[in-house]
Amino acid sequence: MRRPSGKIVAMSGSRDGRRIGGQGPKRTGRGAGRARGPEYLLTFPAGLTRLVDACLRVDLAGVETRYSDDSALVITSSSPAARVASLPYAKNTFAVLDEVPRTTFDAAARTLADRIRTSAPEGLPRMRSFRLMAQVDGQLAPLDRRAKEALERALAARTGATVNARGGSGDELWLVGRRDLPRIVLAHRLSKGKRMPAAGALSTELSHLLVRLSGPTPDDRFLDPFCGSGALGRARAASPAASITCSDLDGEPDLTGTGVRYRTEDALRLASVDDGSVDVIVTDPPWGEHVGPGAVASDFYDEMAASFARVLDPRRGRLVLLMARRREDEVTASLERHGLTLTGAVPLLVNGHPATALTALPGR
Ligand SMILES: C[S@@+](CC[C@H](N)C(=O)[O-])C[C@H]1O[C@@H](n2cnc3c(N)ncnc32)[C@H](O)[C@@H]1O
Repeated sequence: MRRPSGKIVAMSGSRDGRRIGGQGPKRTGRGAGRARGPEYLLTFPAGLTRLVDACLRVDLAGVETRYSDDSALVITSSSPAARVASLPYAKNTFAVLDEVPRTTFDAAARTLADRIRTSAPEGLPRMRSFRLMAQVDGQLAPLDRRAKEALERALAARTGATVNARGGSGDELWLVGRRDLPRIVLAHRLSKGKRMPAAGALSTELSHLLVRLSGPTPDDRFLDPFCGSGALGRARAASPAASITCSDLDGEPDLTGTGVRYRTEDALRLASVDDGSVDVIVTDPPWGEHVGPGAVASDFYDEMAASFARVLDPRRGRLVLLMARRREDEVTASLERHGLTLTGAVPLLVNGHPATALTALPGR
């Protein structure tokens, strides 16, 4: 396998499912020790920990990874919280306010309430109203009413905020547990209500991560030839490019105001695209069952590979292809048959379905 040049490739010093670094205190935590900067917990599409970690090291200052699993990272960073909250590939972003060793949520709430009555955690936000909830691995978790009220009262007394159990426009504080994290954290949710993608469309977070896997540069001529809703083109438009084109056989997506050009085009021919005129293809072709009436999936992928190999620039070209994992071998064989060399295969989940993001370059 060749490694793509100029790309985000590796995460330093961490492995999925492991806590990274010492248990030492953080700036927002209790006790003595070296300050590390505020701590953040981020969640993202499952399977992309290494890529997210590598992106964070480019996008934020002074990143240290303290914990990772397949869909969450706890990091410290000296970047402003607003910068952390704006990362487009994070599903949810939390600022960690305090922590207790892993126990039940009820016991954690009581311990934290006692502590907060004595002194406010550094970084406790100014709030008008808030609600308190608990989750483990992203799933809501029950919290004993009395333990919850004890913590709410302590937080309300410290901040002057009112408790708004129904949420609304107020802030959200969470007790967060992760299956391999040896502590429960009290955290302030920074990211708010992301829009749900249209049916069949990739999420914004995954679209941004697939685009990052292509190592975008400002002189890229970008193409998504199976664009559907245009999610990948829209994600690519978040950073400069020479041109961004999306095409599909079906229905034009709304790309108003993005600068993305749309064409109705068969991806297996790409008749209007000149040989070697595309620098980057990031795309999500049909997953086997939807290759068209009467079409055979292996023929479809073979024609797709031939079409991509023709339009990609032989020197600068890069391909990122999101596939059903069960099709990985046949698609890889097709790519290689047409002179595209596989450089990576990242296993991930798309709405719970096993998938692989393949990366490839022209040339053998
Ligand atoms: C898995 S969907 C892509 C979803 C897209 N990534 C999104 O976020 O909305 C595959 C798309 O390929 C399109 N398609 C299928 N066969 C095609 C072909 N031969 N040429 C171009 N587009 C095709 C379908 O219309 C569909 O929009």
